[in-house]
Amino acid sequence: MADRVRTIGVGVIGTGFIGKAHSIAYSAVSSVFGAGLRPTLEIVCDLSPERAADRAADLGFDRYTDQWQELIDDPGVELISICAPNALHRDMSVAALEAGKHVWCEKPMAMSLADAEDMVTAARSSSRKTIVGYNYIKNPAVTHAQRLISDGRIGRVTGFHGRYDVDNEADENQPYSWRLSRERSGTGAIADILSHLLSVAHFITGSEVSNVAADIDVVHRHRPDPTDSSASREVDNDDTVAALVHFANGAHGTLGASRVNWGRKCGLRWEVHGSRGTITHDQERLNELRLFTAEDDPSIAGFRTILTGPEHPPYSAFLPRGGHTLGYMDVKICELHQLLQAIENNTRAWPDFEAAVAIERVMDQVERSALDQRWLQI
Ligand SMILES: NC(=O)c1ccc[n+]([C@@H]2O[C@H](COP(=O)([O-])OP(=O)(O)OC[C@H]3O[C@@H](n4cnc5c(N)ncnc54)[C@H](O)[C@@H]3O)[C@@H](O)[C@H]2O)c1
Repeated sequence: MADRVRTIGVGVIGTGFIGKAHSIAYSAVSSVFGAGLRPTLEIVCDLSPERAADRAADLGFDRYTDQWQELIDDPGVELISICAPNALHRDMSVAALEAGKHVWCEKPMAMSLADAEDMVTAARSSSRKTIVGYNYIKNPAVTHAQRLISDGRIGRVTGFHGRYDVDNEADENQPYSWRLSRERSGTGAIADILSHLLSVAHFITGSEVSNVAADIDVVHRHRPDPTDSSASREVDNDDTVAALVHFANGAHGTLGASRVNWGRKCGLRWEVHGSRGTITHDQERLNELRLFTAEDDPSIAGFRTILTGPEHPPYSAFLPRGGHTLGYMDVKICELHQLLQAIENNTRAWPDFEAAVAIERVMDQVERSALDQRWLQI
């Protein structure tokens, strides 16, 4: 075993939704993928010593702290997960890279394009690896779609249309939280969910959004104050966004996202049109891909459903038979595995800070376009 496995000490900052997911991925990745870098859960950080201690016990970390700088300086840590709210991503990422650590940062990269560019500068000055948590493009079904497209199975890509809707904030009586604050989250639906859709759009089309005409709205302007039930707080970032887009490769499309659409839980749906076919996907049925190809005999042509299985790497790392289905956590493990491989083989992970800043550029222009009410070039 000594020859096959080298360990890598990891630290996780923030232990909410996604910090827990990172921690589970670190625990599981070597069981799924076998030989390679094996993470050891060194230290976890959260806002208070009590919460950090509880999370260390729950998630299996050796040490805990409520000071993120202490985690970054910990000599046992080589790889750091940044799973705190958006406002902290820039400072934590830059500090981690300057301390010589690899960084797995959650999306969006930062609160502004300028902050994201600072992160790119820090990454360029470091030999360490980075990746941004755009997990949906690590789903074997989505990777398979990208492969079918690059193999020419739907011809020339002519259009991409997608939405990412959730109902996390649909209840207008739900109390105010950091995601509804421009100061703590940056933009709203744009940063939180349109960013994921953009990662899919760029990955699937093999191109980037080049022009945009967007519209944004705050649907529920006031929310109950969580600390004072008789008071309310003003929401100052977007609940919904819609955009017409052009891609650099000539394809056109529409993109939309909303955090206030009832019934949509993880409603990331998209379709890509080509000169010889169409592929569609829905994250709420994440093991399925639907393909229509004009190459079929017209008398039996129709959308076929491709169910993810061992033919679609890296599904077989998890399960030997198709149809047993993967889930969100498995996809997060795939993302981590790609980062560990990049560290081990000294290659680039995708999207690293350099690549993911393209998404931040589009997000920035989406908001500007909506405020200026005009088409903008990225
Ligand atoms: N890739 C995905 O699918 C996905 C899903 C959810 C969230 N996210 C991203 O992950 C980040 C966190 O979101 P979340 O849903 O986990 O939020 P959350 O509110 O559930 O958790 C945030 C955690 O960070 C901790 N925290 C806050 N300030 C801190 C500080 N100064 N030092 C240490 N810890 C601190 C909080 O106590 C909490 O444990 C966001 O950037 C979000 O966009 C990504």
